[in-house]
Amino acid sequence: MASSEQPRTQWLGRWGFMLAATGSAVGLGNIWKFPYITGEFGGGAFVLVYLACIFAVGVPVMMTEIAFGRRGQGSPVDAIRRVVNASGRSSAWSLIGWMAMLCGFMILSFYVVVAGWSFSYLWKMLAGGLSGSSVDDMAAVFGANNANPLNLGFWSTLVTLLTMLIVGKGVQEGIEKSVSWMMPGLVIMLVILIGFGMFSGGFGAAVSFLFSFNAGSLSSEGLLAALGHAFFTLSLASGAILTYGSYLPKGASIGRTTVSVAVADTVVALMAGLAIFPVIFANGMNPGEGPGLIFMSLPLAFQAMPLGTLFGILFFLMLSMAALTSSISMVEATISWLCDNKGISRPAASWGTGIVLWLISTLAMLSFNLGAEWTLGGKNFFDWLDYLTSRWMMPLGGLGTVVLAGFVLKSDTFREELGLAPLPYALWLTMVRYVSPLGIVVIFVDALGVYQV
Ligand code: PHE
Ligand code: NA
Repeated sequence: MASSEQPRTQWLGRWGFMLAATGSAVGLGNIWKFPYITGEFGGGAFVLVYLACIFAVGVPVMMTEIAFGRRGQGSPVDAIRRVVNASGRSSAWSLIGWMAMLCGFMILSFYVVVAGWSFSYLWKMLAGGLSGSSVDDMAAVFGANNANPLNLGFWSTLVTLLTMLIVGKGVQEGIEKSVSWMMPGLVIMLVILIGFGMFSGGFGAAVSFLFSFNAGSLSSEGLLAALGHAFFTLSLASGAILTYGSYLPKGASIGRTTVSVAVADTVVALMAGLAIFPVIFANGMNPGEGPGLIFMSLPLAFQAMPLGTLFGILFFLMLSMAALTSSISMVEATISWLCDNKGISRPAASWGTGIVLWLISTLAMLSFNLGAEWTLGGKNFFDWLDYLTSRWMMPLGGLGTVVLAGFVLKSDTFREELGLAPLPYALWLTMVRYVSPLGIVVIFVDALGVYQV
């Protein structure tokens, strides 16, 4: 293992890591997934539980993952093994790392399909193919875009190629720069959309849908979905944040960095909600429409607003960029593992991984056309990838991570690595020992009660 002798590449300080981690966190999860699952699970109560999960589970888990990565200097598998071995514990704990790596890969397999939607809508905006005057017209455009496997496959293949191309080029190049203009750009687009929404006649309904809390309106499944989405949106338990953490220089503050990333991610998600739901209510659309929600609603807004085509182009451009800065983080764990353990070059690891990814993502893509009928328990292949990762693998991986950090390892490991003052450290420890695991277990037990009937 000669490569482990060499110092690992590092981000250009805390700021470089911040940009990359924010780029990973902010993506389709915020703008595509958050609104549509909020719509499916009924709004306010779901949003509240999601916010609670972000801060009670997501933030402590993110700090722990970054600390694991930086302490163990490697992919999730290697980093966790090194850290547990240093505490004299069994290498079997690195199973958490294997699951994370698999999870990142599974997420990417369906993520490229959704990113493909974004790219194809960018193209439609440019080519003038997004006209229609009603929700039904837009639903027809979305349906037609999905119906042809060659068309949809072209876009998901393009995303796969771009992802592996960027990843093959290395850790830093390009990522930091693109995030530093893409993030402000995305926020400006959302501000414009929210401003438009205020005059659309649906704003009041949107605000009350998102923020009025009806106790008892959230199902057990909704609870689990909120927890799972907290992991998904912060890129946790999928190898992304842990591996990025392995490139973070010693001395950079993990706590402050984590809080900034979590806040930025949450702000973008809530802004997306405020941008999208007014359009939905103003057009009498069903909030529970499903994965096509933003693609059926936002084009209507762009058509109705002044300079709409320009804003629409910019919006889908930013969304596609945001998707890419997330997608590259999902394979980083696998690539880093291959490079460290198999002695192959970064480009070779990327192309090899890309081929496997392409095969699996093609199956996910077919869920919208040829393979729509290939279902199991009412879910197609695309649904299964999403369901298994968000509802089960990520919360379980997160549980393993906090239990490991809170109870199993020598207590000075994380005290040193996190470098926190006594009070914040005690807070972190309370979270990883009691609050986060209890939250996860309670939601799991609740969900199992439902799934067993
Ligand atoms: N956090 C990303 C998003 O919200 C998705 C993601 C999940 C990225 C897992 C990396 C790992 O779009
Ligand atoms: Na996110």
